[in-house]
Amino acid sequence: MCGIVGYIGHREAYPIIIKGLQRLEYRGYDSAGVMVYNEDGMLVCKTKGKVADLASKCESELNLVGNLGMGHTRWATHGVPNDVNSHPHVSNSGNLSIIHNGIIENYEPLKIELIKRGYTFTSDTDTEVLINLIEDVQKTDNLKLGKAVQVALNQVVGAYAIVVFDVRKPNELVVARLGSPLAIGIGENEYFIASDATPFIEYTSNAIYLEDEEMAIVRLHKPLKIRKIKDDTYVDPYIQELQLNLEQIEKSGYDHFMLKEIYEQPSVIKDTYRGRLLADQGIIRMAGIEDNLEKFLQAPRIIIIACGTSWHAGLVAEYIFEEFVRIPVEVEYASEFRYRNPVINKGDIVIAISQSGETADTLAAIKLAKQKGAFVFGVCNVVGSSISRETDAGAYTHAGPEIGVASTKAFTTQITVLTMIALRLAQAKGTLSKSELQLYLQELSNIPTKVEECLETNEQAKIIAAAMKDAPNCLYLGRGYNFPVALEGALKLKEISYIHAEGYPAAEMKHGPIALIDEHMPVVVIAPKQGHYDKVVSNIQEIKARKGQIIAVVTKGDTQVRELADYVLEVPDTADALSPLLTTIPLQLLSYHIAVMRECNVDQPRNLAKSVTVE
Ligand code: AGP
Ligand code: GLU
Repeated sequence: MCGIVGYIGHREAYPIIIKGLQRLEYRGYDSAGVMVYNEDGMLVCKTKGKVADLASKCESELNLVGNLGMGHTRWATHGVPNDVNSHPHVSNSGNLSIIHNGIIENYEPLKIELIKRGYTFTSDTDTEVLINLIEDVQKTDNLKLGKAVQVALNQVVGAYAIVVFDVRKPNELVVARLGSPLAIGIGENEYFIASDATPFIEYTSNAIYLEDEEMAIVRLHKPLKIRKIKDDTYVDPYIQELQLNLEQIEKSGYDHFMLKEIYEQPSVIKDTYRGRLLADQGIIRMAGIEDNLEKFLQAPRIIIIACGTSWHAGLVAEYIFEEFVRIPVEVEYASEFRYRNPVINKGDIVIAISQSGETADTLAAIKLAKQKGAFVFGVCNVVGSSISRETDAGAYTHAGPEIGVASTKAFTTQITVLTMIALRLAQAKGTLSKSELQLYLQELSNIPTKVEECLETNEQAKIIAAAMKDAPNCLYLGRGYNFPVALEGALKLKEISYIHAEGYPAAEMKHGPIALIDEHMPVVVIAPKQGHYDKVVSNIQEIKARKGQIIAVVTKGDTQVRELADYVLEVPDTADALSPLLTTIPLQLLSYHIAVMRECNVDQPRNLAKSVTVE
């Protein structure tokens, strides 16, 4: 995620761009930059930090007058947040500039080839490779910018929304998209370009949203021509008249960021494995693991440290690592680990999981582990965050900024990264056969589509929420891989609806908690076909015998549990080890709707903060 803004028209570009970037800051930022064109040429100003920092830098250093420009708020994926890695990036000749939202998966081989052809690079980003590839194509084939962009993009694998400018053709901007949003606002003798309509909604409500694999040359006094990147065929532009207000656009039309982020999970899981999971080639490629493969293969033990939802992802990883890699795993609350003088043996590996990368307890636990000689590997969602900088190596989730305090897409992308690590280690250790590995790789690549199917439980979740919303307490039960999902489902309900809920291993009910069951106790049971199904059915019968209200998450087509439960939420079938990626979705929706019906503040629940940087 990040924000892009472009302008060409009769107004001053800079004020529109800066205000537009501020509107897009909700999409995540760690740095920002602006380019404005005038008779002095292409003026670029960029900086680490907020848009406000950019504005003060621009206004103190440059006279950014001009009617054409572009701006970018960065959410780094390649290259830490700093001035040099900020966008816009300029080509070697100084003639071309680009802003980019997305990931160029094959930037490394492209960069190697460009270096051979004499190009140099100042940043660590994938984006700077793209602008020099466009330059190289333009020079080699003597092409105009639009054609050069099109030819270059046909060599690119990945996701992008880009705006490209050539100082030699200062009356046009070239735009293209694949996998990241790009909207074009159409005004009177002016065009606006942005990640969404928030930067231009007050100037025009007429907008075109490019579709994937489409590009356009945006020229003043010329009608917009949209083309397919692949084969240059023209596409009739579909101009929409927008009825959304600012707040609705930021949430993409959803009522809350949490709901938007629940629905983003298919695409962000795909973004997280993009360029890393190569199912057709039967490989997983993660630099942080490849560079430390021997450490992982020799490790006598893995200790996972995290807090909250990230700790639940760690529990899922414990089951996956022990089953696939046959390595002992312990999962620790970072807040406990850091104060109990833990035993760390030589060769032990610590994996720290954190969405924000700023959780104080996790950061402190990492420092303690390092002091005791452990190699620490981080799984974070924020590039350049404190935890990502403190760990010895790591792998980022690409969930984009998670605004809702209740973590949703962070959980599923963390599990995606951890599963890929486990599969890679299992491949290296030979603890999974080639065919078993291939099955998991293929099934993991099917998960985004299956998550889409899980989101179809939304209406059923609303119905169940109406039945559950006044319960004073609630139990969540699961076995095996879905025991951590039961804990996570309970945490979701607690933190946004303020109903007391407890996650429990289903088999443990008979050791005490079953005393709680009566007709006032809703019990959510996670009962997918794969994974101790018959045992879970017995647990459901025990609950039913005590008049408990049963809400079951089942595999599509299930009949046996459907006979016993008061309500069911159906998810597609998948491998047991991958089921948490699916079974958690209806529980996220259920807690969301209960919270809405209880008129709770879903995105900012009481007493909570998105990043717990206090101890
Ligand atoms: C999850 O819904 C909570 N908001 C909270 O438990 C969170 O997971 C925890 O604070 C850890 O945060 P982190 O992943 O940013 O380290
Ligand atoms: N991959 C690019 C970078 O890391 C763009 C990231 C973004 O979408 O902000 O700079």
